[in-house]
Amino acid sequence: SNSMAGMDHSKMDMETMEGHMSHDKVVSLNDSTGKNELKMPPVLESNNEKEVVYTVRAQKGETEIFDGIKTKTYGYNGAFLGPVLRLSKGDTVKIRLINELDEVTTFHWHGLEVPGKVDGGPHTVIKPEEEEPIEFKVTQEASTLWFHPHPKGNTAEQVYNGLAGLIYIEDDNSKSLGLPNEYGENDIPLIFQDKTFDDEKQLNYSAAMNEDGTIGDTLLINGTLNPKLTVKKEKVRLRLLNGSNARNYTFKLNTGDSFVQVATDGGFLNKPVTLKELSLTPSERAEIIVDFSQLNTEKGLALINENESILLPFEVTDQRGEDSNLPGEMNNFSITEEEMNLPVTKKVEFFGMMDKVTINGKKFDAERIDFTQKQGVTEVWEIYNKPDAMGGMIHPVHIHGTQFKIISRNGEAPPENERGWKDSISLKPEERVKIAIQFKDKGVYMIHCHILEHEDNGMMAQIKVE
Ligand code: C2O
Ligand code: CU
Ligand code: CU
Repeated sequence: SNSMAGMDHSKMDMETMEGHMSHDKVVSLNDSTGKNELKMPPVLESNNEKEVVYTVRAQKGETEIFDGIKTKTYGYNGAFLGPVLRLSKGDTVKIRLINELDEVTTFHWHGLEVPGKVDGGPHTVIKPEEEEPIEFKVTQEASTLWFHPHPKGNTAEQVYNGLAGLIYIEDDNSKSLGLPNEYGENDIPLIFQDKTFDDEKQLNYSAAMNEDGTIGDTLLINGTLNPKLTVKKEKVRLRLLNGSNARNYTFKLNTGDSFVQVATDGGFLNKPVTLKELSLTPSERAEIIVDFSQLNTEKGLALINENESILLPFEVTDQRGEDSNLPGEMNNFSITEEEMNLPVTKKVEFFGMMDKVTINGKKFDAERIDFTQKQGVTEVWEIYNKPDAMGGMIHPVHIHGTQFKIISRNGEAPPENERGWKDSISLKPEERVKIAIQFKDKGVYMIHCHILEHEDNGMMAQIKVE
């Protein structure tokens, strides 16, 4: 699937992709019956007024995903998934990281522009029973980011078991735009993850695991099985995170109605972009606004996937909510003439499948620095998804510690809804994407495929910023 706004979903791509994958890859998702009201992750509040002080604990637990059955899961500050960490631009943030698992883990802040030493990549391991304080300043604009573990070779299983949470950054702009912002009412986090449960309704990762990306038949949103969302007749902001190990989603409304995208991975778009469908590959985010005051609800409304499977039915009550207008201007994102004209200084080639995945022909080596870059200097990189004899597959490419700009996809300007800050991009086979990228801080950062099994299999390289 591609992320081209307003473009018809190309059948060719899906066939190429599915033809290439083993059987497990084409497992389709069960429809949500809408039996359970969507759970909202708790919001973590700081108990300190001068600075933001949080404790984040990786722990084991049991979760009642199926009625009356306890499933063994992992979570942050709870049994499954994690809280929403609220941050504001300018904050000094102190977090106590605690590992209560029986295995090593790391705490990675996906999308956050922080020094390499607190980024939580595979070098910053915390052993079982140990804890580590970190501190950083929030220097970037309002956005929806997330956090998850990143231990070398073991990211996929830990995320699959439930380690993932959201980060909301606010700033003066986000507070003045008048977008829906009542958490859990008209500002809704949606973490999409697909799982396979065994006969005992357990998450048996080694049984479910696929080297090319673990795909499940059961959708959980915010950890909720068969979710539905009850909303008023008003504009509702949905913060979508593809938190799956490997599955791509193309979101649509079952009625064919359009919705509006307002934010990319790392901030607001300059203007709302009207879409009928939106694709997100693993780790990508988007904020969209669905106007339930305008939609015909007689036939039942739902968010569906490209193949029509029902992801999230909506129950629209008769209550009218606030009647807000969408802002016309939301941001001042731009690609400068200078950035457009910079020569390509790094070429990064993603190639392979299963456990034979590489970047520039090499597998990850924690002892090897693959690229260097000067702090604060913008470079243009060209990222290429090299097809193989069987076609190849989509790789979602993610870079740590920064938000970057897409200059072009195959020489063309990116679609309107990708003209904003990104930290992850989908690359179809044979696709060539140019990005303008700089790092505000120093340290060692990762670039990798966000199909988590590909990451674990070594489709990851290191950038040293000095
Ligand atoms: Cu979501 Cu290396 O990260
Ligand atoms: Cu990341
Ligand atoms: Cu990949």
